[in-house]
Amino acid sequence: MKVLIVGGGGREHALATKIARERGVSKLLCTPGNAGIARVAQLVSVDPSDVDALCALASHESIDLTIIGPELPLDRGVVDRFRRAGLRIFGPPRDAAQLECSKVFAKGFMARHGIPTARYRVCDSAHDARTVLASGEFGFPVVLKADGLAAGKGVVVAADRDEANAAVRAAMVERRFGDAGARLVIEECLSGPEVSFFALCDGTRALPLTSAQDHKRVFDGDRGPNTGGMGAFAPSPLLDAELQAEVMRDIVEPVLRGMRAEGTEYRGFLYAGLMLTCAGPKVIEFNVRFGDPEAQAVMPLIESDLLPLLSSAADGRLASGAPRMTDTVAVCIVIASGGYPGAVKSGVPIRGLEEAERVQGVTIFHAGTAMQDNQIVTAGGRVLTVVGTGADYREARERAYVAAARISFDGMQYRRDIGLKALQPASQQFTKTSDA
Ligand code: AMP
Ligand code: GLY
Repeated sequence: MKVLIVGGGGREHALATKIARERGVSKLLCTPGNAGIARVAQLVSVDPSDVDALCALASHESIDLTIIGPELPLDRGVVDRFRRAGLRIFGPPRDAAQLECSKVFAKGFMARHGIPTARYRVCDSAHDARTVLASGEFGFPVVLKADGLAAGKGVVVAADRDEANAAVRAAMVERRFGDAGARLVIEECLSGPEVSFFALCDGTRALPLTSAQDHKRVFDGDRGPNTGGMGAFAPSPLLDAELQAEVMRDIVEPVLRGMRAEGTEYRGFLYAGLMLTCAGPKVIEFNVRFGDPEAQAVMPLIESDLLPLLSSAADGRLASGAPRMTDTVAVCIVIASGGYPGAVKSGVPIRGLEEAERVQGVTIFHAGTAMQDNQIVTAGGRVLTVVGTGADYREARERAYVAAARISFDGMQYRRDIGLKALQPASQQFTKTSDA
């Protein structure tokens, strides 16, 4: 089978590493890839947001299955385009991808299908938004979300009226996120620990994969600006079998049923970002693809071959029975360039990768890396993900940090507290919960 992976981050390196080892793969291509992916796949340079060019590539290379990593091609209708050309692809069609790509769509969809989420209002103008805020309907803090994709920067948790009005001005008057901020969702602020849950879907059937917890802020102690994710651990100790069954029943399955009722089919990974409130799990956001860095933590824990699962999901005929998982856990640390999530310098030589890879139980996935004069250099904000696996979180975490300490490049930064939450008794993660 000839496989094409679209994307060039740590998530795609984790997918490529897993798939490259599986039986039945005759050729693995990745676009645009990175210096790490180049070791397991042949790189091509087609822009992932150019769906016509992707379709031409898959057709020219006689690709049997294309796997989409990031959300942008999904939002641009890559799945619809491939299907029209008779090409097999893993991911949701454009209408279903709106679950991630439009917060207004996602909230309306959840309301229509009884999926638990925060109460909300949609605002079409700055005047509407200020009226909702002035009404005090949601109190403070309150959450404001730009409707469209805003590279993880479109959500503000505003402590008071001034902060909320400033967020309205930034999105709707200054148009800081362009058209993505033309509409805003204002919603009640929920509290409780945040957990991500992943399912594999074929349009009618969903299989639970596992859960994870991300670390979104750039600095230790969850301080500083939001990022794409600075580290994760998987599975989440908070999502036991009972809670997982509840999430499948009350959230994942209603998504599939709702999509069918609305005339589309959800095929692909479904990522539910949840808050475990006193009133049960509620959806904070959906992503219509795997998470980054969650995929880096999860892929090493999947024992079953992924390719047969993804192909049958793409064909709408997943067999029953959840994928087999190892009985180990994973902690992954993102190594970022200095200045991230702001402007960063690229082309900085990276040292110590081989020594780091020698640590037992450790795998290193590349994100923003490139090869320059026979040397691996930085090429972006998030540079590497160091994954430690082990019998428990303590062991996995220690291995990841031992390996991370062997890597060095000018300006490199990483959080020192990834995975500490997993070592706390579950009850402590709930202590901040006050309402729902
Ligand atoms: P999102 O991009 O939708 O994942 O939101 C980014 C972050 O904002 C989430 O990870 C949460 O920490 C926070 N957030 C989003 N919605 C809410 C909410 N309704 N209540 C509290 N925090 C929220
Ligand atoms: N780590 C969160 C995401 O992939 O969106």
